[in-house]
Amino acid sequence: MMSAPLASLHDFSATLRDEVDQALDAYSRFGHGCPERLEQAIRHSLMAPGKRLRPLLTLMAAEACGSERSQAMPAACAVEMIHCYSLIHDDLPAMDDDDLRRGLPTCHKAFDEATAILAGDALLARALEIVADGYENPTIAARSCRELAKAAGATALVGGQADDLNEQFGAGDVDMLKAIHRRKTGAMICVSLRLGAIAAGADDQQVAALDAYGEQIGLAFQIVDDLLDHAGDEASMGKRVGKDADRGKLTYPGLIGVEESRQQAETLIAGAKQSLSQFGERASHLEALAQYILERNH
Ligand code: IPE
Ligand code: IPE
Ligand code: MG
Ligand code: MG
Ligand code: MG
Repeated sequence: MMSAPLASLHDFSATLRDEVDQALDAYSRFGHGCPERLEQAIRHSLMAPGKRLRPLLTLMAAEACGSERSQAMPAACAVEMIHCYSLIHDDLPAMDDDDLRRGLPTCHKAFDEATAILAGDALLARALEIVADGYENPTIAARSCRELAKAAGATALVGGQADDLNEQFGAGDVDMLKAIHRRKTGAMICVSLRLGAIAAGADDQQVAALDAYGEQIGLAFQIVDDLLDHAGDEASMGKRVGKDADRGKLTYPGLIGVEESRQQAETLIAGAKQSLSQFGERASHLEALAQYILERNH
């Protein structure tokens, strides 16, 4: 497969990001019944400059499966909303206790803890509402809701976050670490791709290939996040760095060292690219995105 250069990914993802931001903007105006301060808190976090990785994956997966991007826009916004809720709660004093996110004060710092908790709750609920409403085909809507709820739930994102905070696991091994990463980060990355495929009416083989791609980039993404916490730059990251070690978190560089972590991420990204072979040129953006995950500095 020909590789799309990162420069072309940059232009293409800027276009996609604009489309996602416009849709998120519309979906996060709640109107009558939503207290103004709550809406402000939601939009403070949601409209802040995130990378929009998960919605890009949804839109690019739909593209790889031969569909129009607009088909997958409700799902793309829903995965970003759940991700954003998870960040708001991840930053709370009871969890990672962070004060900087996406280059801005975290939600509980800009507002207050109760408002941040509720902003997260509202984003989770809104995501499911958008997916349920977003498709004329009720089978696609129901399947997308079910998969999204599962990826956000106790055996996936929330379970991974619980184990990440559990001090007992701070002394764990690589298998334990992988199991945490797969759930706290990988599950939402995989479901982002699956929802794009489902919106496009993909067959099982296509979904399986995207799963294989997603599992590998998901793990690599969190390894790189750990590496950037270890040695990254706060200004470009838009969040505090060097905190995982202070908190005694189980991380890749902490467990196997920087060099070995980087090598494992590289191997995973190479494997992820190979998983895309059946899509040919239609997956060139997903291929370039995998490379970006390895090379990113924020
Ligand atoms: C941060 O996710 C949390 C992790 C899963 C490591 P991102 O690095 O995708 O954060 P944003 O969306 O760009 O802010
Ligand atoms: C958070 O992982 C993953 C989720 C929010 C589900 P981290 O705690 O490592 O994320 P950052 O480094 O604060 O972005
Ligand atoms: Mg955390
Ligand atoms: Mg954190
Ligand atoms: Mg981190």
